Amino acid sequence: MNKFTNETMYQIIQIIELDLLSKEKISFEVLNPDFISSTYAGQVINIDNEKFIYRSYKAWTDLASKLFCRILTPIKKTEHSIIISFEKLKVEESFHKIKEKKEEKYGIESTFSLINKNEEPEVLLTYLQALNNVKIESKKRVLNLGINSGEEFELIKEHLAKHLEDFENIEFVGIDYCESAITLAQKKFEKNTNVNFYSHDINNLEELNLGEFDLIISIGTLQSSNLDFNKIFMDIVQKNLKKDGSMILGFPNCRWIDGEIIYGAKAPNYSYSEMSILYKDAFFCKKYLQQKKFRVTLTGKYYIFLTATSIR
Ligand SMILES: C[S@@+](CC[C@H](N)C(=O)[O-])C[C@H]1O[C@@H](n2cnc3c(N)ncnc32)[C@H](O)[C@@H]1O
Repeated sequence: MNKFTNETMYQIIQIIELDLLSKEKISFEVLNPDFISSTYAGQVINIDNEKFIYRSYKAWTDLASKLFCRILTPIKKTEHSIIISFEKLKVEESFHKIKEKKEEKYGIESTFSLINKNEEPEVLLTYLQALNNVKIESKKRVLNLGINSGEEFELIKEHLAKHLEDFENIEFVGIDYCESAITLAQKKFEKNTNVNFYSHDINNLEELNLGEFDLIISIGTLQSSNLDFNKIFMDIVQKNLKKDGSMILGFPNCRWIDGEIIYGAKAPNYSYSEMSILYKDAFFCKKYLQQKKFRVTLTGKYYIFLTATSIR
């Protein structure tokens, strides 16, 4: 097993990458990050006349993620060292690669249905911040495009209850063309008469005659290949968003692979993550909404959340 003491991260990566070519799981011994606190990556620590380069657990988890590995629970080896193990992710397990009938790609039988974004703290906290920024408790009508099985409404319900705000006073409408996901969403909210779900194509939203809303949420949906992003976005703002309303859009900047959330947007024609489309689309929305007198922020890591609030 490799033991790393004062090797640079560059050198360590060369060794680990080579090891991963022939092994599914690798282990190596390093300085225990708990040995010393308030220390930055790269600081040299002297222990018993031996030099160690310090790195935090965050650095090791980032490395695992960058190399498409999961990190296993470290084992304490000596007073000041631990053994870290990386296990290669099965990249072919990614649901992004699954070719289903388009409406059921995200259905209840899909790998996507196993994912709950609300359990990923970075995504959850960014979404909650967005909900707080738009003052969700003050809204009367909320529309969600691409609601899938209702997760984004479940969180709002829990959040309002925690703050003793009345969920029932707000009308919620969720749209998704995936019938199995909508059926599940309806079941989850069967006791809430203020929540309605429609299995419908966003391309034909007008057919539903929904009127205007004071909050529109759409996460991981409008960039779908079956939707003309700019046109759909402008249509929604013009036809369904109140002039003094708010908007929360979530742009995926991650991939879900074999149980892990991996940072970086997947772009067509690139084997690595590439964010040009994300930046282009997010900036198009930001500029458009600013012209219409909205204050717009972009926040988050695995999902970039665009939050727009009216300044009229
Ligand atoms: C990546 S999922 C995101 C779901 C959910 N908002 C989330 O972030 O977990 C995209 C969702 O949009 C739905 N969708 C994609 N294109 C659609 C369209 N044209 N009309 C209605 N729903 C659509 C899919 O069925 C799916 O549920």
